[in-house]
Amino acid sequence: MSQKVVIFGSSGQLGVELGAEFTRRGYAVRGFTRSALNITDAAEVDRVLTAEDPAWVLNAAAYNHVDVAEKEPLAALQVNALAVRNIAVTCRQLDARLVHFSTDYVFDGAAGRPYREGDTPHPLSAYAVSKLAGELYAQAYLDHALILRTSGVYGPAGRGTARGNFIEVMLRLGQSGQPIRVVEDHFASPTYAPALAARTADLVARNAHGLYHAGGGAPVSWFEFARMIFRAAGLAPELRPSSEREYRTPARRPIYSALENARMAAEGIAPMPPIEEAIVAYLAGR
Ligand SMILES: NC(=O)c1ccc[n+]([C@@H]2O[C@H](COP(=O)([O-])OP(=O)(O)OC[C@H]3O[C@@H](n4cnc5c(N)ncnc54)[C@H](OP(=O)(O)O)[C@@H]3O)[C@@H](O)[C@H]2O)c1
Repeated sequence: MSQKVVIFGSSGQLGVELGAEFTRRGYAVRGFTRSALNITDAAEVDRVLTAEDPAWVLNAAAYNHVDVAEKEPLAALQVNALAVRNIAVTCRQLDARLVHFSTDYVFDGAAGRPYREGDTPHPLSAYAVSKLAGELYAQAYLDHALILRTSGVYGPAGRGTARGNFIEVMLRLGQSGQPIRVVEDHFASPTYAPALAARTADLVARNAHGLYHAGGGAPVSWFEFARMIFRAAGLAPELRPSSEREYRTPARRPIYSALENARMAAEGIAPMPPIEEAIVAYLAGR
C-alpha cells in the first residue's frame, strides 16, 4: 500500500511542487491550503492529522513577509514557530515523520562563504528568529524530524500570487521601461521549487532525518541572478547595480546567505540543476 503524505501550505510555491512530486512517486497525497487548514489552529491540526494518520507530514506553510514581520513579529512567530510546535506534538503522538522547511536567513552572513549545516545560526530579523524557533520546536518534540533550509525559492505557483517571486518581480519591472536597480553585494542560493521538491522526495525515500541545506547550488548575487533572468528571457532592460546602503529595508538581511548543500552531496543526493538551467525551465513553463 502506498504511504500517505500530508502537505501543509499546499498551494505555495514549494507546496504545489511537493504535491506533484510525491504523487508522481506513488505516495497518497493529501494537500491542505491555508483556507482548508490554518496551521496556527492547534486543535484543527490535531484533528486533521489524527483523521488522516499519515506516514509523513510535509510542512511547506510559512509566514514569509520578511519586512512586514518587523511590524508584526507575533504573527511570524505564530506561523513559523508555534504552529510547527503544534504539528510536531501531533506527529509525535501519531508516530508520523515531519519534514519542515527553514531558511538561509537563520545566518547573519558574516562568514562570507556558503553556509554548511554545522555553522552556528545568528538570525538578524523577526522573520529569521521565528524560522529558527520553528526548527528548534521540530527538534524539541521529534528525534527524527527532517529539516531542510532553503533560499530564495521560485516556482510556477509564484506566478499567480501578488507577491510572486524574484523572477516575476524582475519580469514585471523589465516591462516598465524604467532602469532596474538590484543589489550586487547580497549573495544567496536561489532555489527552483521543483528541484527542491525532488530532493525532498529523495531524502524521504531514504528515511533521512536531521538538518540539511537545500539551496539552489552556486552562490550568486541578486544582481547577477537578475542578469541571468533577463538573458534567458531575451530581454535587455537597463539593469543597474545597487548596494545594501542604497536599499535599506525594514528587516536586516544577511549579506551572504548562500547555502552549501554539504550533507546532501555527502549522501549522494543529486546536485541542484545549474541556475541558468533552472531559470530556463521556469521560463519555459510560463
Ligand atoms: N520564498 C522564499 O524565498 C524562501 C526563502 C527561504 C526559505 N523559504 C521557506 O521555504 C518554504 C516554502 O516557501 P514558499 O516559497 O513555497 O512560500 P509561499 O509560496 O509563500 O507558500 C507558503 C504557503 O503557506 C501558506 N500559509 C501561510 N500561513 C499559513 C497558515 N497560518 N496556515 C496554513 N498555511 C499558511 C500560504 O498561504 P497564503 O498564500 O494563503 O498566505 C502559502 O500557500 C517555507 O518554509 C519558507 O519559509 C522560502
